[in-house]
Amino acid sequence: MHSVEHLRFGEVEGWRLGYGPVGRPLMTVCCYLAGGVLVDTGQSHMGPRLLEALARRPPAAVALTHHHEDHSGNAARIAARYGVPVWGHALTAGKLAHPFPIQPYQHFVWGAARPTAVTVWAGPLEADGFTLTPIHTPGHSKDHTVYLDKANGRLYAGDLFIGERIKFFRADEDMGAQIASLKRVLQEDFDALFCAHNPRPTKGREALQAKLAFLEELRGQVARLHGQGLSERQIVRRLDPRKDRLVKLITLGNASCSQMIRSTLRTAL
Ligand SMILES: [Fe+2]
Repeated sequence: MHSVEHLRFGEVEGWRLGYGPVGRPLMTVCCYLAGGVLVDTGQSHMGPRLLEALARRPPAAVALTHHHEDHSGNAARIAARYGVPVWGHALTAGKLAHPFPIQPYQHFVWGAARPTAVTVWAGPLEADGFTLTPIHTPGHSKDHTVYLDKANGRLYAGDLFIGERIKFFRADEDMGAQIASLKRVLQEDFDALFCAHNPRPTKGREALQAKLAFLEELRGQVARLHGQGLSERQIVRRLDPRKDRLVKLITLGNASCSQMIRSTLRTAL
């Protein structure tokens, strides 16, 4: 089943896109129109539906938060349909210059992103009277970038947030970098948090603060157990709530609670 939910937060509109080969979509992803800039493009399985939705209000440009296939999935399609630039970090441009490998579950849930030319931003992006300032926020991925609309107190956050208490890391995530990126973004003033999976139209800054507190607490716990002489395996066993077995199985170990704990051990202890 496919689902397209139109989102409206004042003058910001967006779409929550869900794809399920059978039954209800298991996961959804949102993209937002900030003035004329479409921040992220959803999963390629939902490309035709997103183009239908955009026909009413074609974007003047696309800005990508990172290369993951549920964010970059339709950038090539939209650039080709409307002849608009796709903006992103230099690392995003590098990733999208060629097809990049993804796991079987990613093909199944989201679909692969087609390569596309990404213009590397060198400063704020302007469209329809909105100014978006890119801030490089590595951690979730090396290229991860958020876009801040300072004038309106809105942060287009990609996957920086996801939730106050996250349960999984992908293999390429970095705990130390994520904590540093959250601290960097919390130096800014904003209220609306347009997360790609979990929008918080108000009190978004507080939500990001809560996530930072959670990650720092987890890092403290891991550091304590490490200090008591526990091995990585023992710490994983002690802290892994074992609720992630299904996710671990589906993703062939790419995403899990253990990955989150291992990343914590690798950084900043
Ligand atoms: Fe992501």
